[in-house]
Parts: sequence; structure tokens; C-alpha cells
Amino acid sequence: MSAVPPPISDQPVLKLSNVESAYGPIKAIRGVSLQVRRSEIATVLGSNGAGKTTILKTISGIIDPRKGTIEFKGEDITAKDPSFIVQQGLSHVPEGREVFPLLSVHDNLLMGAYTRSDRDGVARDIEAVFGYFPILKERTAQDAGLLSGGQQQMLAISRALMANPDLILLDEPSLGLSPKLTKEIFEIVVRINRERGTTILLVEQNANMALNASDYGYVLENGRIVMEDTCAHLREKDDIKEFYLGMKEDGVRGERRWKKKKTWR
Ligand SMILES: Nc1ncnc2c1ncn2[C@@H]1O[C@H](COP(=O)(O)OP(=O)(O)OP(=O)(O)O)[C@@H](O)[C@H]1O
Ligand SMILES: [Mg+2]
Repeated sequence: MSAVPPPISDQPVLKLSNVESAYGPIKAIRGVSLQVRRSEIATVLGSNGAGKTTILKTISGIIDPRKGTIEFKGEDITAKDPSFIVQQGLSHVPEGREVFPLLSVHDNLLMGAYTRSDRDGVARDIEAVFGYFPILKERTAQDAGLLSGGQQQMLAISRALMANPDLILLDEPSLGLSPKLTKEIFEIVVRINRERGTTILLVEQNANMALNASDYGYVLENGRIVMEDTCAHLREKDDIKEFYLGMKEDGVRGERRWKKKKTWR
């Protein structure tokens, strides 16, 4: 394993074009277009109910979109079966982790590798995830349901890695975790990206952590992308500072706050 990060290529590994998904009459995402380049960490920021989880579920085939197309590594995967999509090299770490509570940590990891037949590779990857999350090695025989929330998040990420994916979809890893644990998990997500070259699409309400960890970001509001840029640029934008990073400034921005309306620039 090399410590030198693989270069981010301009070629998109994932491409959504005008994707619309709904729950009955409720349109959850409306015309979402985004791209994730190979070996980068991209993030979708959005508050409660913005449609972040819906985007990820639509990519991984859990929800079929009403409109639009999704390409992964140049192939159309729109509305394909979730198991087919995993086999193509796309793993999803769902919101709320969803580990198998009555299976051991070890068996949860094996579940992540169910599409693989290379037993040596699987054994190597179990050691690799124990390298990232040593606590899982200590708890390997324990039922996953007895792990803490943070440990379950580590297991969910590890289970996704066990499929040896090209792209991981990561749904709000900070949910319910302390700031310290959130920081630890984000650091390891960045290490996984840098060391293995795994491309990551992360959705988060925690804009501070997500913008620091990611290369490129999208802002989602009511199911629509309202802004996109490099995370370095997004971190400097007044609207992002004010509404997502909780940094308030005096002067013009202070006046604007009273209008209670977001103006995206
Ligand atoms: N199963 C469902 N049935 C009906 N409406 C749903 C369902 N799941 C989500 N929604 C609605 O779709 C919209 C987008 O929800 P989604 O879960 O994608 O948001 P989110 O950005 O992930 O929010 P959070 O940060 O709270 O996880 C919301 O208005 C939500 O109420
Ligand atoms: Mg969500």
C-alpha cells in the first residue's frame, strides 16, 4: 500500500444527469446533476430533509428514479438491481449504519465480501480494515449489536470496504457521534481514500467536517443542487460560512440575516 495519493483524474467515475426521485407524490430530488471524479472525495451538503439520502439510495439502486440517468465507470446503471451495482464496484454505507446486530463483527465483514471469490484477497482486506480500525480486531467475535455507535460506524465502513469497491457512498457518518469520534472517523475515511485510491461520495449535515475532508462539494437545498465548487472555495463563501459553518459576520451579512431568506451566490 502506498502513502502517495493517486492523482485525481478528470474522468468522472460517477455521473448523475437530471435525476429526479420521489416517494409517491413527494418529489425528494429534482433534476440533480453531479459528477464524482476518480480518486476524489466529493461531498453533498444539505440540511435535514434536503434529499441527501435519496440521492445515495437512487445511485445504489434502492430507489428507481422517475427521470434522469446514472453512469458508473462509463456504464448506465440507472434503476439496475442493487446487487448488480455492488458487483460493479459500488458500495453503500447507509444512514444509521445498519450492521447485522446478531452477527459477529467478523461475520459482518464477510457479508461485505459476499460478491467475492478470492479468499486470499478477502483475508488480506480483513487485516487491512483491522489496520484502519484496530478496535474491530479486538471485538471480532462480538455481536455487532453490542458495539457502540462509533464502532458500528467503523464496522459499516469496513463492511463496505470488504467488497473492494472503486466507489463508496457514505451517508452521514457523523450521525449521533461525538465531535471527537466524528473527527477520528473522518481522518480514517481520508486515509482510505489516499492510501487505497477509493473514490468517495459523502453526504453530510456536518458541513465543517465534510468540507475539510473533501475535494469537491455540492450544496443541496430542497432536492436541488444550488451551488458547487472545490471545497477550498466553498469554505470561503459567505453563505456557506453563515448557514452551514455557523460563522456569523457583521455588516452586510448581518443585515441579510434578518431577511430570513437564503441567497446563494
Ligand atoms: N420513505 C419515505 N416516504 C416518504 N417521504 C420520504 C421518505 N424518505 C424520505 N422522504 C422525504 O423525502 C425528502 C428527502 O429525504 P432524505 O431522507 O433524502 O433527506 P436527507 O437530506 O437525507 O435528510 P437527513 O439529513 O434528515 O437524513 C424529505 O422531504 C423526506 O421527508
Ligand atoms: Mg439522510
